[in-house]
Amino acid sequence: MEKLLKEIVRDSLPFTERGKPASYIPELAKGNPKALGAAVTDISGKQWCAGDTDESFSIQSIIKVVTLSLALQLRGADDVFSHVGVNAVADPFNSIMRLEMDSDRQPQNPMINSGAIVVVSLLPQDTVERRVAAVRDLYARMSGDDDSEVVDSVYISEKRTGDRNRSLAYFLRSAGTLSGDVDDILDAYFQCCAISTTAGALSVMGATLAADGKNPVTGEEVIMPWVARTVRAIMITCGMYDGSGEFAVNVGIPAKSGVGGGIMGTFKGRGGIGTFGPALDARGNSTGGLEIFRLISEAGYRVI
Ligand code: DON
Repeated sequence: MEKLLKEIVRDSLPFTERGKPASYIPELAKGNPKALGAAVTDISGKQWCAGDTDESFSIQSIIKVVTLSLALQLRGADDVFSHVGVNAVADPFNSIMRLEMDSDRQPQNPMINSGAIVVVSLLPQDTVERRVAAVRDLYARMSGDDDSEVVDSVYISEKRTGDRNRSLAYFLRSAGTLSGDVDDILDAYFQCCAISTTAGALSVMGATLAADGKNPVTGEEVIMPWVARTVRAIMITCGMYDGSGEFAVNVGIPAKSGVGGGIMGTFKGRGGIGTFGPALDARGNSTGGLEIFRLISEAGYRVI
């Protein structure tokens, strides 16, 4: 695995030139477009790293896996999925259009921004601080990463420029889909997206999902098996947004991307992978990360 991963990262490096860091959140534009790294953790907890894996970066949308897991554990599937759907969409992650067109006025799935905002609103904790603390705690237990923090510069940068998410949330409230204090819900959402992570931590999170919710490094059963199964299914259908269908056919690994440059993948019964490369394509997926996933799939690690 050590040799394979090094070769794959080396061969994927030219793909970083095909994208650029996210700029709609100004703080993320500072990401190094040339950086690329990958970590794999297997089901026994053994880890391999290649490339730029020491850097910590912003988890962004990958936290949607954690917020969904937490909401499912605390409220159950029937309740959560009466507020947000589980279907793939061919629209960008921050699209508004379908919310008005669909008669139920519900987000199509928990991985797009509108769906994740609804999921955050369902978390039962009664303050922003408690909500974020619960998400951070589950993130830490799924990934074994105790050093992560909400990075203030990223949180403030998104809070200042997050008008699209504000529009989504206010629309959802006007449609009766979202209840509660919109500013507080958005504040919790922005803080969750600004949590720091590493490729290694993402690979452990992937391995935890692969082991039906048992963290292979700490041995702790962090989420219930049905939650892990549900999340894996939603990752394969919705995790790469409007690129999910192509990704499922060409790569065949349940995965979740974030505009901080990370992608987390899970191989049922085998392990997890985390990649880091801030250069993104037009869909908000890491160009180098996508190539690493394609090559690891080609090397026999397909799930589908
Ligand atoms: O809400 C946003 O737009 C960001 N905080 C997260 C978006 C994201 O990571 C999309 N992923 N590829």
